Amino acid sequence: MKMPFRYGCVVDGEYFCPRPELERQLRNYAESGQNLVIQGERRMGKTSLVKKAISGMKGERLLYIDLYGIRTLADFCRRVMSGVGGVTEKMSFLKKALSLAHRLRPALTIDSTTGAPTITVDARAASEPDSLGAVMATVKKLAEDGGLCVVMDEFQDLLKLEDSAKILAEMRGTIQFQADTPYFYLGSSRNDMLRIFTHYDSPFFKSALPFEVPPINEAAFVRFIVSRFRKGGCEIAADVARSLIKFADGVSGDVQELCDALWSVTSEGASVSADDLPTALAVVFAREKNGFENAIADLTPNQLTVLRGLAQMESARVFTSEFMDSVRIASPGAIKRALNSLVASRLICQNRTEYTFSNPFFREWLKVNA
Ligand SMILES: Nc1ncnc2c1ncn2[C@@H]1O[C@H](COP(=O)(O)OP(=O)(O)OP(=O)(O)O)[C@@H](O)[C@H]1O
Ligand SMILES: [Mg+2]
Repeated sequence: MKMPFRYGCVVDGEYFCPRPELERQLRNYAESGQNLVIQGERRMGKTSLVKKAISGMKGERLLYIDLYGIRTLADFCRRVMSGVGGVTEKMSFLKKALSLAHRLRPALTIDSTTGAPTITVDARAASEPDSLGAVMATVKKLAEDGGLCVVMDEFQDLLKLEDSAKILAEMRGTIQFQADTPYFYLGSSRNDMLRIFTHYDSPFFKSALPFEVPPINEAAFVRFIVSRFRKGGCEIAADVARSLIKFADGVSGDVQELCDALWSVTSEGASVSADDLPTALAVVFAREKNGFENAIADLTPNQLTVLRGLAQMESARVFTSEFMDSVRIASPGAIKRALNSLVASRLICQNRTEYTFSNPFFREWLKVNA
């Protein structure tokens, strides 16, 4: 039987629980050329929501640029041009893009598995200092025909580039003259996104309206989960579905992962009960064990101690004497250093003075295994 849940990827179609109000708002913003900084916790559904909202619009095309893990300016240029290749299969558009970006010596290829057009660029040309200007000018020109929404995902990863301040300033220099083109900047590293969009000395200071992607509306999510279990040949009561959402802190991707584990341990025709949760959790742990073990293998003793302490203490009051006693680290400075490294490695997230786990299953696993 086809699996009724999907996680760890962008979802659409039957796997996407509709979020009509947010979709409507995003479409209105795109239509009016409003730039947005779209934030939300990891795996909350930012990318899926934006892709769904924009690709469902008549007359609007999506230029989706994934900046995850970029390390160099050449990576940035490659990702932009690869996004351009994905806008449409129309030859007239693709040819125009190739000619506009000629300085990067672009080539059009057809992906052998998906059959989709892909634009690649010459590695050396993409490393030249003027390559940024060339790709930004290409996007600007392509957008001049109207109906193009530019989405830059994992935008905060630009901060990892050498010369990031200069690059951001140059990008902003081009974008600010494109009043009719909506630019949506997505990111899940809240502090880094705040640094880019709310620090008065950043080139992107107040350049986009904040848009928060909250957890999926609970009633709608419960209905969706019940119907997906039914599709998968099992039943689940609404209150059990509600407790799954609560257990996974309402994070869409984690809820789906838990649902999938639960579904995999339920026989066809059976009803899922809350008592099955520990078994489902064991399935999640078994699937993620290697990743969890790798994550802790690289930590210093202090980092691991602080991480364990955080897993045990529900509210993250990390600088209280109670916390310091429990982890037996007397220096707030040492705790802060450990926390900073854990945030940098994305194992935990920082929201001002709050520290929470990026992955609730990792937190639960640490409680019993580390
Ligand atoms: N509308 C939705 N309905 C059902 N599940 C969803 C929905 N949106 C997201 N999810 C679940 O969350 C997972 C992550 O979605 P997505 O990649 O869109 O989130 P994200 O916030 O962009 O994540 P990241 O922070 O990793 O970039 C999906 O694989 C899916 O399991
Ligand atoms: Mg995403």
